[in-house]
Amino acid sequence: MGSGAPSGRCHPDGAVRMPPRSATGAVAVPALAAPVLAPGRAAAEEVPRPVPGIVKPLPAEWFVPRGTNAEMRWESLRGADGEAVVGRRVPVERFFVRNHTSTPLIDPASWRLRLFGSGLRGAPARERAVEFALEDLRALPSTRIDALIECAGNGRGYYSRQQHQSVPGTPWTLGGVGSASWRGVRLAEVLRAAGLTDGAMDVLPSGLDPDYVAGGVNYGPVRRPLPIAKALDDVLLAFEMNGEPLTPDHGAPVRLVVPGWVGIASIKWVGGIEVADHPLHSPWNTDFYRMFGPGHPPGGGDPLTVQVVKSAFELAEGAVLEAGREHRLHGRSWSGTAPVHRVEVSTDGGRSWRRAELHDEPRAHDWTRWSIGWRPERPGRHELRARATDRRGDTQPDTAGFNREGYLFGAVVAHPVTVA
Ligand code: MTE
Repeated sequence: MGSGAPSGRCHPDGAVRMPPRSATGAVAVPALAAPVLAPGRAAAEEVPRPVPGIVKPLPAEWFVPRGTNAEMRWESLRGADGEAVVGRRVPVERFFVRNHTSTPLIDPASWRLRLFGSGLRGAPARERAVEFALEDLRALPSTRIDALIECAGNGRGYYSRQQHQSVPGTPWTLGGVGSASWRGVRLAEVLRAAGLTDGAMDVLPSGLDPDYVAGGVNYGPVRRPLPIAKALDDVLLAFEMNGEPLTPDHGAPVRLVVPGWVGIASIKWVGGIEVADHPLHSPWNTDFYRMFGPGHPPGGGDPLTVQVVKSAFELAEGAVLEAGREHRLHGRSWSGTAPVHRVEVSTDGGRSWRRAELHDEPRAHDWTRWSIGWRPERPGRHELRARATDRRGDTQPDTAGFNREGYLFGAVVAHPVTVA
């Protein structure tokens, strides 16, 4: 597969919204009608919503609206005085949102998780699925993990801006990522409780959001298979984010969190999980979220799994810094495979590099905050760069490998600032 899909696939902009399906038993109400107010506004004063399918307010100082998505502004992690306003975890209200269609409102009381398929004892059919209510999940032993969610297309905008390569789809800069603390039940625990067999090979979690329609094709509900090895390793069925029940935009009542992997693996609003003794497919591992184009196999590379190494400054692009004064440049670096080992910063467009000071104990699947001092003397345009290396030895390259859909942009990003 892969050749017949429309060119805008994997990118929801312009997607048609279909009514939510009711066959799942969950009450999924499109959020489009609910009025949402900007913070601080009087209740009567309705304001236009920058992204209609997203329920939470999206203040312009925190987010860049991008089609059906909202990108986090990196500069919003610092106040006007340069002080940190966001710690290692991104508060729920500031967390980026990536929706293929729109956020459904799901009644947690009638919500059920339904597991079925040939990989379970007795091979229950979809209509005879093993069901778990939210309180059933909450009654199982729970676990907390700190993990990033990051879109596979995070950084895509730099393929054109920095490498002059044209790619379709949401032109994220680096704000399609966030770190949160997630509480839930291990998927392994639920699979075993549902009667997992030794022959199980793939699991396919499915979202309760409206079907994804693009280019005249209805791809059905957002769903993507996981190999059983990953499903049994560290995947969480999360019902809490940063200590509070999940909110609608981030997958309430229950979502997957798949540490280290591209964000599409972390299915939100999960309703059903097929467990099979044979390989499973969906457009999200055949047509989308694989590497296509020159240098990749004709039908596309393997389905994307782990994220690449990246770094970002907590600073606006084009920020103005005072000449002849000591500044502290802050940022964060992360990798999908291993803890961050080292971060280097260049303030002269990549000619020389200095090592940044790390402020967190580096951990896998999470970011590490860092900073470095800089006293610019010469007024004018300067170019900052940050380059991280993880403990496996993976370093950010100068150029990201081209792929037609613009996934996994891991190259060092040139960050312009003005010294005045
Ligand atoms: N799950 C469903 N059901 N529908 C979606 O559109 N988007 C995926 C994933 N899970 C998506 C989904 C993608 S591409 C990403 S990057 C993450 O959710 C984003 O999670 P967030 O919106 O909580 O930041």
